[in-house]
Amino acid sequence: MPITRLEIIRPDDWHLHLRDGPALASVVADSAQRFARAIVMPNLKPPVTTVARAQAYRERVLAALPAGSTFQPLMTLYLTEATDPAEIAKAKASGIVHAVKYYPAGATTNSQSGVRDLKHVHGVLEAMEECGLPLLMHGEVTDPAVDIFDREAAFIDRELIPLRQRFPRLRMVLEHITTSAAVQFIDAQPAHVGATITAHHLLMNRNAIFAGGLNPHHYCLPVLKRETHRRALLEAATSGNPHYFLGTDSAPHARGAKESACGCAGIYTAHAAIELYAEAFDEMDRLDQLEAFASFHGAEFYGVPRNTDTVVLERRAWRVPAVIPFGGAQCVPLRAGEEIAWTLVCPARQVQEVATGSAPVAA
Ligand code: DOR
Ligand code: ZN
Repeated sequence: MPITRLEIIRPDDWHLHLRDGPALASVVADSAQRFARAIVMPNLKPPVTTVARAQAYRERVLAALPAGSTFQPLMTLYLTEATDPAEIAKAKASGIVHAVKYYPAGATTNSQSGVRDLKHVHGVLEAMEECGLPLLMHGEVTDPAVDIFDREAAFIDRELIPLRQRFPRLRMVLEHITTSAAVQFIDAQPAHVGATITAHHLLMNRNAIFAGGLNPHHYCLPVLKRETHRRALLEAATSGNPHYFLGTDSAPHARGAKESACGCAGIYTAHAAIELYAEAFDEMDRLDQLEAFASFHGAEFYGVPRNTDTVVLERRAWRVPAVIPFGGAQCVPLRAGEEIAWTLVCPARQVQEVATGSAPVAA
């Protein structure tokens, strides 16, 4: 008998793009409805490079939440070659900054202020290793001579293995892993080196970018890989191995920025995040492992308590809207106009409160 109803401890999203301003107000409720906490990425314009900026951004996220929401944004700092090692101790002491994000300069959206050479930030990494603040890595080389499908594997060989040797106690997360090379690497690491896996990399291979014509809504970075890699990710995510945890990398862009001659990278999945992961785990017949991946392993890695309330999913298909409001524009979510097999039936307290009269956040 297939499982038709699943109740799990409320999950957390350990890699999320919430954007800012009116766009933030449009998307944050989707995450708050499903997740208790999220690691919020700092690639804004300008980037969130200091504790003061993280504090101000956190206030804007909290102000954009639906009335009564208890969703907790866990902030990150954007690592630049100008980051002062003294900012790390401040970040640790702040209680609101939970990690530092490394973007190789030029690797992805708003990464221009990122790091050109990791040697230039060794002082910062030493400070992080000392105080236990994790380094979250966009793990791709930017060398144009390296094929785009090989950039994660090249990052592991060229940057990550030397970094592990130079900073053996540094806590690290290889974000949004996409290849069997990443799984092999992570499997061999100690507990303080983990990885997040997105729903879209579990559900799609690179054919999805080209099926029925070029589809910019399936373009993200790291780019989708071939089926053998998707299988390796599915095995890792559903294995029960605590190295792997949920990070959606939900990354909304206005429709016009995606459907463009030079479309932005990023897939919006926050509208159905846990439902999409349920589909992936169901494909492996491992729904029994969803709770550990979505609700336990990340909390353990970050040293925060597990959530105590639950969410309920039912095997019942629903149709995703063709577009969602996104600031003054629209965003095309994953599966737009198509069905998702699982429905969230026990949404967050705050959504019930909205339904019974408190004002929802302005979209
Ligand atoms: O696809 C992506 N979109 N990958 C990233 O690394 C950044 C993100 C974004 O911010 O749009
Ligand atoms: Zn991201």
